[in-house]
Amino acid sequence: MFNLILFGPPGSGKGTQSEKLVEKYGLIHLSTGNLLREEIANRTPLGLEAKNFIDKGQLVPDEVVIGMIDSCLEHHKQASGFLFDGFPRTTAQAQALDKLLALKKTEIALVLSLEVGEEELIKRLLNRGKTSGRSDDTNETVIHQRFTVYKNETAPIADHYKKLKRFQSIKGEGTVEEIFDSICQAIDKRMKATAP
Ligand code: AP5
Ligand code: MG
Repeated sequence: MFNLILFGPPGSGKGTQSEKLVEKYGLIHLSTGNLLREEIANRTPLGLEAKNFIDKGQLVPDEVVIGMIDSCLEHHKQASGFLFDGFPRTTAQAQALDKLLALKKTEIALVLSLEVGEEELIKRLLNRGKTSGRSDDTNETVIHQRFTVYKNETAPIADHYKKLKRFQSIKGEGTVEEIFDSICQAIDKRMKATAP
């Protein structure tokens, strides 16, 4: 199994690159943001609860997203690997993910962190907000709140993966294709190193 985490702040291109990566490498894409938005669209109790947090730019409680990831891993027992997008976002989520993967006798092979300046991130998110219908993309205060949450709660978990020497930064500015090429190079190198 090859399990990858795409790491990076809101708007850094995790979703955009994930779409291309799952096509190329056949990984199962697990985006907690997409899963939560599906729950909201279907008006489930979980979705209604999550919406309160998402609309304010805050994180949904750990137990909710960990439960979602757990059931997705169970649903895809035969997968050749997973691409985690927007998860883990807190220390508790990173620890839970390690445990869930260990139960499946696997682990995180690589964490790729998309590095993009804040000005460019704001531009991208506001631009998407014009058409996406995402409630958290239209209000600049909410966008800033998402950055603050990222800095305080999510960025620190990079250290965990740095200690394991599984962490690599990728320049996240440039064309989608250029960034995709750098990501693929990093993945191919790591796949070679972990091949049996
Ligand atoms: P989530 O859906 O994960 O959003 P996010 O992390 O804030 O990031 P985005 O999805 O907005 O950005 P992205 O990095 O995927 O970039 P994208 O490719 O779309 O989370 C939303 C909310 O859900 C959270 O705030 C939280 O409330 C909740 N949540 C989710 N996961 C959670 C968890 N694990 N725990 C707790 N709560 C959780 O690109 C952005 C835009 O830029 C697009 O318009 C794209 O077309 C454009 N773009 C992409 N690449 C480029 C490029 N190279 N050049 C120019 N434009 C580009
Ligand atoms: Mg996304």
